[in-house]
Amino acid sequence: MIEYWDGPVLGIETSCDETSVGIVEGKRVLANVVSSQAQLHRKWGGIVPEAAARKHTEAILPVLETALEQAGLTLDQIAGIGVTNRPGLVGALSVGVSCAKALTYALEVPLVGVHHLEAHVLSTWIEHEPVFPNVCLLVSGGHTELFYVSEPGEYEFLGGTLDDAAGEAFDKSARALGLGYPGGPAIQKAAEGADPTRYDLPRGLSDPNLDFSFSGLKTAVLNLVRNEGAKLDVPSAAASFQETVASVLVDRAVYACEQTGARCLTVVGGVAANAALRRRLQEKADAQGLSVALPSLSLCTDNGAMIAHVASWRIARGERDGAEMRTVAVESLGRRMQEDGRREAKHQ
Ligand code: KG4
Ligand code: ZN
Repeated sequence: MIEYWDGPVLGIETSCDETSVGIVEGKRVLANVVSSQAQLHRKWGGIVPEAAARKHTEAILPVLETALEQAGLTLDQIAGIGVTNRPGLVGALSVGVSCAKALTYALEVPLVGVHHLEAHVLSTWIEHEPVFPNVCLLVSGGHTELFYVSEPGEYEFLGGTLDDAAGEAFDKSARALGLGYPGGPAIQKAAEGADPTRYDLPRGLSDPNLDFSFSGLKTAVLNLVRNEGAKLDVPSAAASFQETVASVLVDRAVYACEQTGARCLTVVGGVAANAALRRRLQEKADAQGLSVALPSLSLCTDNGAMIAHVASWRIARGERDGAEMRTVAVESLGRRMQEDGRREAKHQ
């Protein structure tokens, strides 16, 4: 059970390249409006921080108005406010945080700053009955991390990427294959109906493992493009890349369940929207007798509803932030034990 604040809570997300406002009442999503800047950043093949901040400034008020309309609410009916204040691009975060502070001041309702990764980790439980403990695999543009979640707010870091994040590998490989930005959806689309066994690509670290490495895979895709030239079967290269990433992610996540004894597995963040990953995960979890809970696609990529969801729970616990709330560029989530202690604790 997760206890929520009474009344509609508004969540603002501007940490990266999506301007989003969501409104939830308990677990009910009343609105979730996302304005993506993907089109803007496409021409550069990645996110340009100054351009992102400027675009957030333009988009935030129209997105807020649309969210209120979608929820059928007026501002004075909002009972609490949450905003992503960490981690993320500082200029981009500041836009959401300034907006949240102004609203809180005007409406005289509670405000909390939300950790973006915690919002992803708990996003599954907006639509599913919560199961704790669980293992959560967080896979986004900037993160690939495995957590043991004993209860909301208690995150034990089990392992993560030593180099590129899974989403980053999708984005960079898509660029190498000439498939555009953002890479995840582009690779998924190109791979449809193609042969995932056509090219043999490296899995990074050896199995079993709780850590990840995707830089070798990314380099292998670059080499493939260079060596094969016009002969390259791009759809099959995309499919081979996608299956390699999905298989590594699923194997590590299932291994994390074995190591911790958790019987429930959840995958969150932008890459969790990937269809091949979702299919593979369900198959392997079924075979191992594990339950799987996944957020629907609109809650996988960055969105305001997941921010509002965490805010509603944290405000109900009595947490409050004030006008002094700051933005933070880098902040990890959860406890990180020493490598040895961690493994010992898990092997006992
Ligand atoms: O969580 P998110 O929206 O933003 C961050 O916090 O990073 O994740 C964005 C990442 C991008 O790298 C994007 O390519 C990837 O998620 N992504 C996907 C898919 N949709 C988005 N990756 C694989 N398959 C998808 N369908
Ligand atoms: Zn995210």
